[in-house]
Amino acid sequence: MAKTMSHPLFARLYPRINAFAEAHGSLEHRRELLEGARGRVVEIGAGTGANFRHYGPGVVQVIAVEPEPRLRALAERAAEAASVPVDVLPGWAEELPVEDHSADVVVASLVLCTIADVPAALAEAARVLKPTGELRFYEHLRSNRPGFFRLQRLLNPLWRRLGGGCNLTRDTERAIARAGFTIEQVRHFDFLINGRAGPASPSVIGIARPPRARTP
Ligand SMILES: C[S@@+](CC[C@H](N)C(=O)[O-])C[C@H]1O[C@@H](n2cnc3c(N)ncnc32)[C@H](O)[C@@H]1O
Repeated sequence: MAKTMSHPLFARLYPRINAFAEAHGSLEHRRELLEGARGRVVEIGAGTGANFRHYGPGVVQVIAVEPEPRLRALAERAAEAASVPVDVLPGWAEELPVEDHSADVVVASLVLCTIADVPAALAEAARVLKPTGELRFYEHLRSNRPGFFRLQRLLNPLWRRLGGGCNLTRDTERAIARAGFTIEQVRHFDFLINGRAGPASPSVIGIARPPRARTP
């Protein structure tokens, strides 16, 4: 795995893209994702720290891992304004700098579309979660409509290039289940901007429980 990441164009664009998305509904999605989260939280690929303001008083600590230096600098600023303690760390979802079974919540928002090795990242999420913990996810998905999926596949190479490695074609919900998580709550929706669908519209917000630790 590469030890550094640099996506200067995406890092410059993402705060604006995110502000636009938040003005059109993703602010509410982030609230929904994090409502009722408690205890020690690990956020993977925290970007600009857009989730930080949604952590409520039940959260005692957030460890936010972000590999991209420019985005991480923005996350550090957002951490200062958060109402709960947030530690922003460099690192990768595939190698979390967090002890085994020490987190109550792992948060993945708009990130499993981009992470290079999703099974490794989900295995890490399972490793760091307590047995009673939860994976909270908010992701865009490949469409289950064949025509729409064909369009996503067609656009994907350009989308990846402009979107810092983001993929339109991932079946992320299935990847979570394949990693052994039990999906307990899930809401599918099309994220529409001004009533219109875009290539990343098919979306999901959910909560999954980690796989049970195997006894030797
Ligand atoms: C679309 S942004 C989403 C940021 C943030 N989670 C949000 O909800 O706004 C995707 C993020 O994933 C990060 N990322 C990419 N590969 C990663 C990896 N292997 N581990 C952790 N983060 C990664 C990128 O640097 C970027 O910040």
